Amino acid sequence: MKIAIGADHTAIELKETIKQHLTQRGYDVVDYGPNNAQSVDYPHYGEVVARAVAGGDCQLGVLICGTGIGISLAANKVPGIRAAVCSEPYSAKMSRLHNDANILAFGARVVGSELAKMIVDEFLNAEFEGGRHQGRVDMICDIERRR
Ligand code: RB5
Repeated sequence: MKIAIGADHTAIELKETIKQHLTQRGYDVVDYGPNNAQSVDYPHYGEVVARAVAGGDCQLGVLICGTGIGISLAANKVPGIRAAVCSEPYSAKMSRLHNDANILAFGARVVGSELAKMIVDEFLNAEFEGGRHQGRVDMICDIERRR
């Protein structure tokens, strides 16, 4: 499975840690940057990763900024994207099971590297349950179509 990853300057180190973790777990990771700690604008990286996922180049995405909030807000503007900010493993798992989230976001200033790995693992180990949740996800997609 191909995983897109992107961040901003607050999360350069954590992005590397997560990349390494995912690679060790056998995932094919595509890094959309940035590649140094110079100050950058998180909406750009949120959009680039979101387009990679929405366009099918990657199946899922991971986005990291200071809080995970700004970069997820940007990603969620791309049609087809359901980016969930998760600061603990339970929400990460549920975002896949019930919401069919296709991007996981979290904050480098919020979670430490070991917790971040657990959050990522729960997200990737879970699969959308469909069933009664499908209709609700379809309703989210309908909102997109109505705008
Ligand atoms: C950058 O200072 C910070 O605003 C950004 O990383 C993020 O937390 C925004 O939501």
